[in-house]
Amino acid sequence: MSRKGVVILGSSRSNGNTHTIVSQLQQKTGFDMIDLQQYKINHFDYELKNEDDFNALFKKLTANYETFVFATPIYWYTMSGVMKVFFDRISDFLFDEKDIGRRLRGTKMGVISCGSDNEIKAGFEMPFVESAQYLGMEYVGHIHTWIENKKITPTVQQSITDFANQLMEK
Ligand SMILES: Cc1cc2nc3c(=O)[nH]c(=O)nc-3n(C[C@H](O)[C@H](O)[C@H](O)COP(=O)(O)O)c2cc1C
Repeated sequence: MSRKGVVILGSSRSNGNTHTIVSQLQQKTGFDMIDLQQYKINHFDYELKNEDDFNALFKKLTANYETFVFATPIYWYTMSGVMKVFFDRISDFLFDEKDIGRRLRGTKMGVISCGSDNEIKAGFEMPFVESAQYLGMEYVGHIHTWIENKKITPTVQQSITDFANQLMEK
């Protein structure tokens, strides 16, 4: 049984550069996309009293997908705040309803970053690699992308194609 993959878009704009990259990956993989901007997701609360969209969204994601591609712009050398809050909130399901959190075990994680240029600073990947390990997910890899004059360069296009193949193969 092969469940599908989903791209989790963590940009502060729904139709920005990261979305442009994600659209290409979707064309190559047929993966679904969820745009975190479209959901109300509060910061983590130690009392677990949040009443927002996270609980239902996470349950839906973990019930339906076996590959999760986290797509984030680079904001201040790291993942976006939107994406970080999503990771913080996974903790809800490590404190409570742990069976839901455990559904991530054995699933796959891939990461796409989108910056303003081709440089990616050392250390960007670490939180993803470590989170995948902590959650029992298989870390498939990361590609760094960028947009030049509103276009995807051939180099970036090739790395999206290669990454898509890698995500589909595994
Ligand atoms: C708040 C903020 C911080 C940024 N910090 C960086 C950075 O540290 N390194 C970088 O390469 N680009 C940085 N950028 C540029 C974005 O990563 C780049 O424009 C990206 O393609 C934006 O994707 P988006 O349209 O999905 O938001 C920053 C942009 C913003 C808005």
